Amino acid sequence: MAGQVYVISHPLVQHKLTLMRSKETSTSGFRTLLREISLLLGYEVCRDLPLSTIDIETPLAPMRAPILDGKKVVIISILRAGGGILDGMLEILPSARIGHIGLYRDPKTLVAVEYYCKLPGEMAGRDAIVVDPMLATGNSAIAAVDRIKETGPRSIKFVCLLTCPEGLRTFHEHHPDVPVYTAAIDSHLNDKSYIVPGLGDAGDRLFGTK
Ligand code: URA
Repeated sequence: MAGQVYVISHPLVQHKLTLMRSKETSTSGFRTLLREISLLLGYEVCRDLPLSTIDIETPLAPMRAPILDGKKVVIISILRAGGGILDGMLEILPSARIGHIGLYRDPKTLVAVEYYCKLPGEMAGRDAIVVDPMLATGNSAIAAVDRIKETGPRSIKFVCLLTCPEGLRTFHEHHPDVPVYTAAIDSHLNDKSYIVPGLGDAGDRLFGTK
């Protein structure tokens, strides 16, 4: 099965992404834009969440009304830059449960090694949205989704700002059942595994650590 990829072409997403890519954009500007763009990505990602119905009473009449089905959605942030997307998504999913997965790249083997994992209880039956601004080599995303699959959620989606053909290919070789939502697919990875043209190091730009 070929993995599904959704490029969110909404003009507001594309406009904000351009501002984020610019090296002239400040840390505070980058942070604000990431929060705003993540809210918009979240809106698209939630488009097919299942609904059920409940009985309520409006001030005028009883009615049967739609409501998100099942347990609370879980947003899982890949440390550290995933936090920027998480903040924006929480604006539209304020009751979401939150998980964190920390991974570092072993400098010799380039394999992603987990150093932190805290997920909500009762993952089975939840819809999981995994967030990381950059799907570059795909290694961290693969390791994170491996881990999340062990907990048996009802569905998993992966959300990033930017990706590239190499990252998508590698990710979907391992997880063809996990759709990727992104604002753009860039040209390629360079020899330092940065996405080109990209936006630089998302964590450094978000936290001002360069
Ligand atoms: N991580 C980043 O922050 N930027 C890239 O271009 C690739 C990975």
